[in-house]
Amino acid sequence: SNKKIYKIAAIPGDGIGVDITEAAVQALDKLAETNGTFSFEYTTFDWSSSAYLERGWYMPPDWAEQLRKHDAIYFGAVGWPSVPDHISLWQMILPIRQQMNQYVNVRPTRILRGTRAPVSQLQEKPSDLDWIIVRENSEGEYAGQGGTTHGHGPNAIATELAIFTRVGIERIMRFAFETAKSRPRKKLTMVTKSNAQRHGMVLWDTVFNDVAKDYEGVVEHDKMLVDAMTVRMVNKPESMDTIVATNLHADILSDLAAALAGSIGIAPSSNLDPTRENPSMFEPIHGSAPDIAGQGIANPVGAFWSAAEMVRWLGKGDLDGVADQFMEAIENVMGDPKTRTRDMGGSASTTEVTKAVCEEIGRVC
Ligand code: NAI
Ligand code: MG
Repeated sequence: SNKKIYKIAAIPGDGIGVDITEAAVQALDKLAETNGTFSFEYTTFDWSSSAYLERGWYMPPDWAEQLRKHDAIYFGAVGWPSVPDHISLWQMILPIRQQMNQYVNVRPTRILRGTRAPVSQLQEKPSDLDWIIVRENSEGEYAGQGGTTHGHGPNAIATELAIFTRVGIERIMRFAFETAKSRPRKKLTMVTKSNAQRHGMVLWDTVFNDVAKDYEGVVEHDKMLVDAMTVRMVNKPESMDTIVATNLHADILSDLAAALAGSIGIAPSSNLDPTRENPSMFEPIHGSAPDIAGQGIANPVGAFWSAAEMVRWLGKGDLDGVADQFMEAIENVMGDPKTRTRDMGGSASTTEVTKAVCEEIGRVC
């Protein structure tokens, strides 16, 4: 047959990362089986904090080569209280984003049909929150430059350099303007802190204005300082559509966006190498949630939504309809409180939600 086979590198990682990756794989397989034109072949990597404690490493020396054999990477979460968080992040997720050239991180947020948001304006009019946050994914405070001297004692000195390059800024701006242009409202808001941070952030402003000239009359655009942006997100959510921000700012703003939309458990992310030379990586925005790990109650919706975005990316336009149907199945299930997890006001388990979504995929897709 000429069934397309997509090779997926699955990295469940730690805590609820394991539960939600398993849920995503089940839904993806159900989607493939129902559709019939494609299927997934997984390589599961046991790279995690518990493995690190046993072996002394998160990923083997040839990790990049191993990942490059795949069409995409599906990632759960990494981080566990027994390992300092800067070690787990810097030995797994951040090197992958950097070396796979995943310089864009796309974070859509909206209020899923039938669910409840915590802010009253959004309860009355859920459609007011429908955003795509475009996070710069390679530079800023996450570039990895900096250092510590004089130990951590009374004379300690530590630097955390924020790196911004014209190339890095321009490519994220172009991606953000194209994203805004592809959406019905054609509107882009750029976020910086260029009043206090007078070098890198001012360069962001300059490049934004330069790139904006290519979209005059096509994409409406404005800019915000990040502190005021948090207020606007709560008070005037309807005034925004696509948002572009630095690695650090967008990391923080996307957690706020998810909370406004109902739960951090629903929010997806796509770490993209737009050149397609390296596999892109799909993961919910949340972490390993040690406080609820092992209880079977993690919300798998962010994992499903991330999986839907992976299908969209792999299909290069051919599977947009399938990804939309997958989202429709998720939203149909969310409409019933009996098939929602605790963080969304329900009492269903991860497996119950997964089963319901798989059944709905069978009906809708
Ligand atoms: P977190 O996102 O793991 O948890 C924050 C809160 O949200 C917790 O109360 C948790 O129970 C809840 N939550 C998160 N996901 C949920 C889900 N799917 N369903 C229901 N509730 C959910 O963030 P936290 O606690 O700051 O970090 C925990 C660990 O995860 C740390 O080691 C951190 O470094 C790591 N982390 C890893 C990330 C990644 O792998 N990309 C991203 C963020 C954090
Ligand atoms: Mg985050």
